[in-house]
Amino acid sequence: MDEELFPSTPGKIKSDRRTFHRCFASTSTMFLWALFLIALTASYLSFIATGNHHIHHTSHRSVTGPHWEKRVVSSSQIHRKNGFSVLVTGAAGFVGTHVSLALKKRGDGVVGIDNFNDYYDPALKKARRKMLESKNIFIINADINDQNVLAKLFEIVAFTHVMHLAAQAGVRYAMENPKSYVHSNIAGLVTLLEQCKSADPQPAVVWASSSSVYGLNDKVPFSESDRTDQPASLYAATKKAGEEITHTYNHIYGLSITGLRFFTVYGPWGRPDMAYFSFTKNILKGKPITVYRGKNGVDLARDFTYIDDIVKGCVGSLDTAGKSTGSGGKKKGPAPYRIFNLGNTSPVTVPTLVSILEKNLKMKAKKNVVDMPGNGDVPFTHANISLAQRELGYKPTTDLPTGLRKFVKWYLWYYGYEQGKVKSVKS
Ligand SMILES: NC(=O)c1ccc[n+]([C@@H]2O[C@H](COP(=O)([O-])OP(=O)(O)OC[C@H]3O[C@@H](n4cnc5c(N)ncnc54)[C@H](O)[C@@H]3O)[C@@H](O)[C@H]2O)c1
Ligand SMILES: *[C@@H]1O[C@H](CO)[C@@H](O)[C@H](O)[C@H]1NC(C)=O
Repeated sequence: MDEELFPSTPGKIKSDRRTFHRCFASTSTMFLWALFLIALTASYLSFIATGNHHIHHTSHRSVTGPHWEKRVVSSSQIHRKNGFSVLVTGAAGFVGTHVSLALKKRGDGVVGIDNFNDYYDPALKKARRKMLESKNIFIINADINDQNVLAKLFEIVAFTHVMHLAAQAGVRYAMENPKSYVHSNIAGLVTLLEQCKSADPQPAVVWASSSSVYGLNDKVPFSESDRTDQPASLYAATKKAGEEITHTYNHIYGLSITGLRFFTVYGPWGRPDMAYFSFTKNILKGKPITVYRGKNGVDLARDFTYIDDIVKGCVGSLDTAGKSTGSGGKKKGPAPYRIFNLGNTSPVTVPTLVSILEKNLKMKAKKNVVDMPGNGDVPFTHANISLAQRELGYKPTTDLPTGLRKFVKWYLWYYGYEQGKVKSVKS
């Protein structure tokens, strides 16, 4: 699946264990402390009751204005013949950042939107934004559920394409915060499609589904025509729902739709919640890593796909996306609806992943091998990419050892490790 192969610990609500007893010097201070604790408990309870502590409330904040419009217009400027102007959602995310850079580099106009939520360290999202800003790519800080911001954006820019990558990712986190998946992957998608269908001209939409829609299938490799009605996680279910929802907008409003089923994307500027990333982190710190094992002791395997290959698949999808046929909410004729696997076609087991990391880091991992709990992860993924090869010219060229070498190099640079320091940590 796209995600972690070991338990993630986003560590959002940390318990604060300070020693309070010394402060209870007198009855009156004790009374004050009691009041304070009651207030604290009440606010904490109301905090967790909302459930959606990742959802930013952008609707009451006015993000727009003349300065804002200027930045949007400048960022969307096209610098090549027949170039595109692309709205990239989730632009501060892992894939969104790389796709935005590639489009800008070849002369397309790019405007990003991202809510910078704290599912993983927002500092990484801000660092990515900084990199994009240095290339004159503006990322609007807003939620895709904010229809006012979307309407304003489409008023200013006639987007030819929407590259929709914003989503609540991660498989296991759904047990902690299920609503965030509905918020971003269902409600957010519908808000975005509503805007796209009303736009005149309508943009063509390319969006990220996931290999997780293959769920409990055991026929390999996974082909686009295989059944996708047995998802193993809420994440997968919302991606599957996205495929059906986009189909409806294609059918009713003539929106051109391309859905991309990514297979475990990795690389520089990647996601900290994914196994290759946290394994690297823990190995460097000398901390143990948890390696899951499937039924009957079989190793888990993933069809790891390097980010540059995924970017080529995304750009190829934009380039070959037929036009939307409707305008202002009225369909005028049939529009294309496409779905593609974007994988690497060579699954690698998790122990092999770990040994490649060990070589790159010149350190041994402390492995904790345990049986996989039934929490949404599937035992293996393997893509059949012949359709994407034929229609998009998609051809992955980076194998896992090469890609991980590039990832580790980035990781050591980004987190300020020096070569010598890494060696000295070695036990
Ligand atoms: N990385 C993978 O292995 C993988 C595999 C399959 C599918 N995908 C899909 O590809 C897309 C990109 O994934 P990624 O790995 O870059 O993840 P990511 O989490 O790094 O990027 C997603 C970005 O979207 C933003 N976002 C989330 N909800 C939002 C909302 N409601 N409004 C505005 N912004 C919002 C987040 O802040 C984040 O920056 C996602 O749709 C993901 O589900 C990824
Ligand atoms: C891969 O998918 C194509 C359709 O795109 C299909 O014709 C082919 O049989 C599949 N290959 C395998 C090995 O399943």
